Amino acid sequence: MRDLPNTYTILALETSCDETAAAVVRGGREVIANIVASQMDMHSRYGGIVPEVASRQHILSLTPVVEAALAALPGGWSAVDAVAATHGPGLSGALLTGLNAAKALAWQRGLPFIGVNHLEAHIYASWLDPRSAPPTFPVIALVVSGGHTLLALLRDHGDYTILGQTRDDAVGEAFDKVARILGLGYPGGPAIQHAAEKAQAGGMVLPRAWLRESFDFSFSGLKTAVLHKVQEHQEREARLPAKPAGKHKGRTVPPATPPEPPKVAPAPLDPRWVAQVAYAFQESVVDVLSTKAVEAARQHGASAIILAGGVAANTRLRSELSRRAEVPIFVPPIALCTDNAAMVAAAAFYRFAAGMQSGWELDVTPNLRLGM
Ligand code: KG4
Ligand code: ZN
Repeated sequence: MRDLPNTYTILALETSCDETAAAVVRGGREVIANIVASQMDMHSRYGGIVPEVASRQHILSLTPVVEAALAALPGGWSAVDAVAATHGPGLSGALLTGLNAAKALAWQRGLPFIGVNHLEAHIYASWLDPRSAPPTFPVIALVVSGGHTLLALLRDHGDYTILGQTRDDAVGEAFDKVARILGLGYPGGPAIQHAAEKAQAGGMVLPRAWLRESFDFSFSGLKTAVLHKVQEHQEREARLPAKPAGKHKGRTVPPATPPEPPKVAPAPLDPRWVAQVAYAFQESVVDVLSTKAVEAARQHGASAIILAGGVAANTRLRSELSRRAEVPIFVPPIALCTDNAAMVAAAAFYRFAAGMQSGWELDVTPNLRLGM
């Protein structure tokens, strides 16, 4: 690892999913600009992300977000030392737009370029605060996003051991699916959190998939438990015939052309009852995630736990993990938990510092794993 100057400035792009983002970060830790153009409204009409719509929207948004990020940097391009972009994991068409734009920008200006793993980037959001000391190794990272759920041990920059991961749904995906079942809309994470805040504690309890002796996770059984609760409730209330509440499975909707908004009407459920279910679901998820992260830190003598990914925005998870952990917790501010490009620049900084650089032939890797 060489010492890059703390003036070393990286322009980074992120387009792996439904946010078009550009950022400028100095010294791997100081955010100069962090611009995010969200496509949330566009996809919420379909109850999930439509990959083709995402790619097209990235193409439209990339130039404005890059211009906005550079406008915040005194000297503009002349002050940029390197360019980075997410090259996986994510939606292949979406990834391609940002990766190719970043390569073109770097090539045109003769700047070094590096492709960044989106999961690694989420973890490096915890380095983005020059006023506080960065995490010291070894650390445990709990990465919880719409596409991934994993526990990793980091012994050094770039040195990852995956301790466990989900065997079925990612936790964010479970939030999104359960919100859909409950008629709470998309994205499901914030919707469930807000509904749960209105519930009274101690009402309903939903199962926890502990998968004992393992750091793996499973959330599909919990999702099914919610579905059964809704069906039983509807039968009891005899308001609607009992049938599954949603046609679309999974987080992404296959791109039928042109995509149609779902025709399934949200179940007319009592909001107070929905709040109870949302609360019980969130408690189950938070209990399992916190228990396993704390145990992993204990077993591996970690000096800290990093909470990363979109679900790290969940206030209940943040507070419960902080309450239970025996070591300091690093939780980025909410704007740096959900997809952004500042975290990509932070991860890129430590890759460049390790003497790494990508070639122009670098392609997208939609199923890229951590540690590759
Ligand atoms: O990391 P991210 O922005 O995108 C991916 O890389 O997947 O994560 C998006 C996920 C979505 O599933 C969303 O529902 C979830 O993060 N999320 C939350 C909250 N805010 C976003 N989940 C629970 N509570 C939240 N407050
Ligand atoms: Zn993400």
